Amino acid sequence: MAYVVAEPCIKCRYTDCVEVCPVDCFHAGPNFLVIDPEECIDCAACVPVCPTKAIFEDSDLPEKWRPYAALNAELAARWPVLAEKREPLGEADRWKEVEAKRAELDLG
Ligand code: SF4
Ligand code: F3S
Repeated sequence: MAYVVAEPCIKCRYTDCVEVCPVDCFHAGPNFLVIDPEECIDCAACVPVCPTKAIFEDSDLPEKWRPYAALNAELAARWPVLAEKREPLGEADRWKEVEAKRAELDLG
């Protein structure tokens, strides 16, 4: 079991989640961020601070975002750890309102 970052994070990447995580389990790509399921300690601290409500417990992932569980594990193995908060991406506030963003995901 672990927490998973889903589609609402794409093109936003506010990184408030990184700031509250007690372990370094977030990994960042060009326009998305994922959780390493091997490192996540299931504390849930990141869930309420995400402005886009992108983070879910694995078992609570909405059906349409199920593939994000495997995607988090896969990308966490490829992308570097992000341990500190960064500025959100340029048009984060606009993209926050867009629901379907999978096509925008930059795999780096
Ligand atoms: Fe980090 Fe806790 Fe969120 Fe897991 S649930 S990513 S350990 S803040
Ligand atoms: Fe993404 Fe939300 Fe964190 S937008 S970077 S999961 S605070």
